[in-house]
Parts: sequence; structure tokens; C-alpha cells
Amino acid sequence: MAVRKITEYPEPVLGIVGKPVENFDADLAALCDDMFDTMYDADGVGLAAPQIGLNLRLFVMDCDGLKLVAANPEIVSTEGEQSGQEGCLSVGKVPAVVVRGAKARLRAQDLNGVWFEQDAEGYAARCFQHETDHCDGRLFIDRLPKLRRDMVVKRFKKEKSWK
Ligand code: NI
Repeated sequence: MAVRKITEYPEPVLGIVGKPVENFDADLAALCDDMFDTMYDADGVGLAAPQIGLNLRLFVMDCDGLKLVAANPEIVSTEGEQSGQEGCLSVGKVPAVVVRGAKARLRAQDLNGVWFEQDAEGYAARCFQHETDHCDGRLFIDRLPKLRRDMVVKRFKKEKSWK
């Protein structure tokens, strides 16, 4: 168990499509332990492998009472719309309003490689979509209009320079 360093924008690994998880072994379980540790340490509700520098389709989350590991995740379907504040540990948690599906169905493999489907709504559905985006090399700022995206990046860089 260990807290890993969080990869931050604009490191290239955050912008590429992850490779599939193929080995469901003890190493994967240990990696997910580290990812949970890293996420809790940063007060996050979700963390994807690219956020610790790994080009892998994998995320962990503990959001709104829903705790899970998702390997090779895909959003099967969404329903409705929700507009709400979103942030990302890789962009200094600078918030911005992002429109997402109000409900989402996630399909993924668990630590044993068993496929499952999970429905969620609200915050947890937002988390499904945000973390699956990470696995596709997409950040939440990529879903913002250019002006708002630039504002988030500017504020992130400014706050980073204070540290
Ligand atoms: Ni994120």
C-alpha cells in the first residue's frame, strides 16, 4: 500500500487512450490498493490509472456510497442530463460546470476479470463518466467550451505556482 504521485495536466499520459488490462493477478490488486490510497489521500472520489502515470484502462472510485474497481470500463448508456460542478485531481480540483448524463450504466471487469454492469445516477454517474473519459485519454476540461477551458487551465497553473 502506498500513495503514488498524481500525474497532472498537461502530462502526455493523460491525453492518450489507455491499453486494456489483461492480467488479473496479485499485481493488479496491489496497484488498485495504491490507487485507493492515493485517491483517499487526495480527498478524491475517483482515480484512473493515467493519473498515476500508467497507460491503462483502469479506475477506482468511492463515490456516493459506491466503491468499485473498473478495468476496461465503458459507458454502455446514459439517460437524461445533469449540469454540475466537476473537478479533477490532475487539474488541481479547479471546478467547472460540465454537462453529463444524469444516469449512466457502466460495464467493466472486476479484479478477477469478471465482467459486470452497474447503474448509477447523480454524482456517482458523473464519476463513471469522468473516470471512463480518463481511460480514453480525455479530461473534463476537454468537454468545456474553449474560453472556460482556458480559464480552468489558467487558474490551475496560477495555483500551482503558489505551491
Ligand atoms: Ni479526473
